[in-house]
Amino acid sequence: MILRELMIQAQAQLRAANIENPGRDVRKLAAAVLAVPAERLTLVSDSAASPEQAAQFDFYISQRLARKPVARILGHREFWGRQFEISADVLDPRGDTETIVLEALKMPAKRLLDLGTGSGVLAVTLLAEWPDSQAVASDISNAALAIAAKNADVHGVSGRLEFCCSDWLEAISGQFDLIVSNPPYIAQDELPGLSADVIRYDPKIALSPGKDGLAAYRTIAQNAKDHLLPGGRLIVEIGASQAADVKTIFTQSGYQEIASLQDLNERDRVITARMPE
Ligand SMILES: C[S@@+](CC[C@H](N)C(=O)[O-])C[C@H]1O[C@@H](n2cnc3c(N)ncnc32)[C@H](O)[C@@H]1O
Repeated sequence: MILRELMIQAQAQLRAANIENPGRDVRKLAAAVLAVPAERLTLVSDSAASPEQAAQFDFYISQRLARKPVARILGHREFWGRQFEISADVLDPRGDTETIVLEALKMPAKRLLDLGTGSGVLAVTLLAEWPDSQAVASDISNAALAIAAKNADVHGVSGRLEFCCSDWLEAISGQFDLIVSNPPYIAQDELPGLSADVIRYDPKIALSPGKDGLAAYRTIAQNAKDHLLPGGRLIVEIGASQAADVKTIFTQSGYQEIASLQDLNERDRVITARMPE
């Protein structure tokens, strides 16, 4: 069958299932099946897909109809211009998390800690941007750490990155001049409102700590103090309605220069704080 016809049919199926941006998803999946860059699809769209290619494309579309995000179908996600492998064990990294990278890069850090590293996007990206820095990436999930280690290898930073399985800072030793974290922050009562793309496929442990969604901030604020050098920075991602609560938690824990930053949609997304000098 001609590729263009397959794509038109698939787009109609996704649209009928109320999937947003069906055209974008179909192009990405078709490009992956043909192993061509998405921008070259038009050039090849009048050629026939082989039976194997058509079957693969069908399989991808059936997964998308079950609400599996395109990045999960393909097994990778772009973050800060680099490709990261993802699996069922890690959060599918979000563009909003790049707000942490943007802020962190304003001041180089020699030694950094990424708490709840997941696929490793934060630790790996910062090490790739800072060729002389060292980092520790930690997570409570060993399966997540295995994916982060693969991504560190691919991006050539494994020699400078140590992995640690830890419940937040419990097993962490040493001092850092930067601690970053995108912890689970969705409140228990917000979970039922999440879209199927999220609730079915992101690991629950990556989404929510239960109750009011603030437990990780309390633990991190309290324990990061023992591992931050004087003047060291703490940068965390937050949910859009959590800025005031997280600022209060950080103030009560003795941090200074506490500020909130917005993402590209002008929603509060990140809190920064410093250890007193
Ligand atoms: C929102 S995900 C963030 C993953 C990655 N940093 C990112 O931005 O894509 C939160 C991560 O925290 C980890 N996590 C959850 N509870 C934890 C705990 N008690 N201690 C350490 N890590 C935890 C999860 O396994 C998950 O990888």
